[in-house]
Amino acid sequence: MQLQPNAKINLGLFIKCKREDGFHELESVFVPVDWKDELEIKEAAEFSFSSSGLSIPGDLDNNLCVKAYQLLKQDFDIPAVQLHLHKNIPMGAGLGGGSSDAAFTLKGIDQLFELNLSHEKLEHYAAQLGSDCVFFIQNKTALVRGRGELLDFSLQLTLKAYVLMVKPKVFISTQEAYSKIKPQAPQNSLPDLLQLPIAEWEGRLKNDFEAALFPDYPELATIKEKLYEAGAKYAAMSGSGSCLYGLFDEEPQIPSEFEKYHCKVCRLD
Ligand code: C5P
Repeated sequence: MQLQPNAKINLGLFIKCKREDGFHELESVFVPVDWKDELEIKEAAEFSFSSSGLSIPGDLDNNLCVKAYQLLKQDFDIPAVQLHLHKNIPMGAGLGGGSSDAAFTLKGIDQLFELNLSHEKLEHYAAQLGSDCVFFIQNKTALVRGRGELLDFSLQLTLKAYVLMVKPKVFISTQEAYSKIKPQAPQNSLPDLLQLPIAEWEGRLKNDFEAALFPDYPELATIKEKLYEAGAKYAAMSGSGSCLYGLFDEEPQIPSEFEKYHCKVCRLD
């Protein structure tokens, strides 16, 4: 079975408070984007996991795809599988790539072995793998709250735009990003802000991680400025970084100064 786990970007990201369990309460809108990994799942005599494409830091045994398989294996009598992940989505980017791989592993195994798990059940497993994983089960634009696992699909959002994503070499771990943040109550309602035309989002629709990380990583602020110079109607960092994105009315050309970065253009609709 071949699957294509996709990335997401965040429209706005408010970090509201730190909870007693150590996680932060957030509010954001997650939008799926067409930057995709390739995941192959095959029944096999014994379990294996391999990867190609961008190199994945750390021990492969701790990969979230492996953990996703092990989680289902605890509850279901499923055969061993051979998992192969071809990594295109940059890591340490705030694009949710690893979470998406894990969620697609759950969905793939559910389909392959006809476990017939409901969305609720798959989301329950996904929440144990990581805060962002839950979103990728249904994989559609959502207002996200809690630690990232509470999804509200009632938001009416028509986005007719192109997105240019730019990932510099800077690697920011989610933990580092959260350790630098000062939570605060949001000044505006996120769903209300998103009803404004995109050109009015600048300065209003904020990602709280920008103020926390830009002083230590000035390159991020520079890329954001350059996205505006290139004609973006709105530019921001995605999630806890370090990927920046710009939204454009027309399909943008990738500026030559971005050639040293990982870039991807796709349509949002
Ligand atoms: O849930 P996930 O494993 O992706 O989170 C990684 C780390 O990011 C957590 O251990 C925690 O330090 C931080 N985090 C947080 N609040 C969230 C999500 C993540 O503090 N809502």
